[in-house]
Amino acid sequence: MQVLGKPMRTIRPLTDEGAVEIIDQTALPHAFRLLRLSSLDDALRAIVDMQVRGAPLIGVTAAYGLAMALAERADDAHLDAAHAALAATRPTAVNLHWALRRVYQRVHGLAPAARAAAAWREAAAIAEEDVEQCRRIGEHGLRLLRACCPPARRWRLMTHCNAGWLATVDHGTALAPIYAAFAEGIEVHVWVSETRPRNQGLLTAWELGQQGIAHTLIADNAAGLLLARGEVDAVIVGADRIAANGDVANKIGTYLKALAAAAAQVPFYVAAPRSTIDFSCPDGAAIPLEERSGDELRWLHGRTGADAVGCLRQIDASVPVANPAFDVTPAACVSTLISERGCCPATRAGLLTLYPEEAHV
Ligand code: MRU
Repeated sequence: MQVLGKPMRTIRPLTDEGAVEIIDQTALPHAFRLLRLSSLDDALRAIVDMQVRGAPLIGVTAAYGLAMALAERADDAHLDAAHAALAATRPTAVNLHWALRRVYQRVHGLAPAARAAAAWREAAAIAEEDVEQCRRIGEHGLRLLRACCPPARRWRLMTHCNAGWLATVDHGTALAPIYAAFAEGIEVHVWVSETRPRNQGLLTAWELGQQGIAHTLIADNAAGLLLARGEVDAVIVGADRIAANGDVANKIGTYLKALAAAAAQVPFYVAAPRSTIDFSCPDGAAIPLEERSGDELRWLHGRTGADAVGCLRQIDASVPVANPAFDVTPAACVSTLISERGCCPATRAGLLTLYPEEAHV
């Protein structure tokens, strides 16, 4: 994708340095800042502090983090400790565990001296696969959107959170079909919900703006009205974990949009790569949902002056706050799942038509 007119990925290996460069997403949309990660601690901090975020990108960063840990020390004890520390950073996005397992299984049987290089190659392969998978999600999703959006006027789409290229290595998941449509010259407008309290919608507005795609930021609570008024042709979101029965964990607020879309008879699509599907998880009730600090509601972040970015207290620290970061949309509310292999109903049978090799799980 483009930033200030230049092609860019969210994470890129720095040649021969055993380090990667990331976009610091905590600085966006106010500043565009690149950061170098060169150690296990750097990778842990980047994921915990949400300098990188979004399910696929968390997985890729963790994979590189494990490779960096092995460059520090490659014995079994350190491999296990680094794996455990990275796995504990964020609970909901299963891509994290999927990517760590891949790197772990790749290096575990190797002599310690060979581990760091092998882990690095595996992390790079995961990153490249993510790019290709998201590109294909764009193609499959575009076919689906053509079927539900009118050919004669602009497409009016709605998304939630940020499931764009910032949440992946490139292209995005939910936004990939939108980018594919735009690339074909189709006129598109995107309703972007703010996504309180972390405001990932501001990242979506920023990246759509960088590509020149028309969009409008809305408060989360405005989505139901727009859907009920018939101002949306389709809702498309990403996912942090899809259970084997098609239930979808995604950013808090996704469920409310799915309910409103169902009531308005607007299609509700979920786009995600294989690494987001957890065939070992029977249903949404078994998905661990991250509970985050109440300070994310107590404080607002933003620009306080021409050059200053700062915080504003909304409410006293003594006020009790609950801050669940994800919710589960029941499979029955999902019109279609979109993955790199195609589209399917949000059911176990539907998922197995795309991934028949998982039938044994
Ligand atoms: O807490 P975040 O910002 O990491 O959550 C991200 C989301 O919920 C995205 O919608 C999800 O990861 C899909 S991204 C391709």
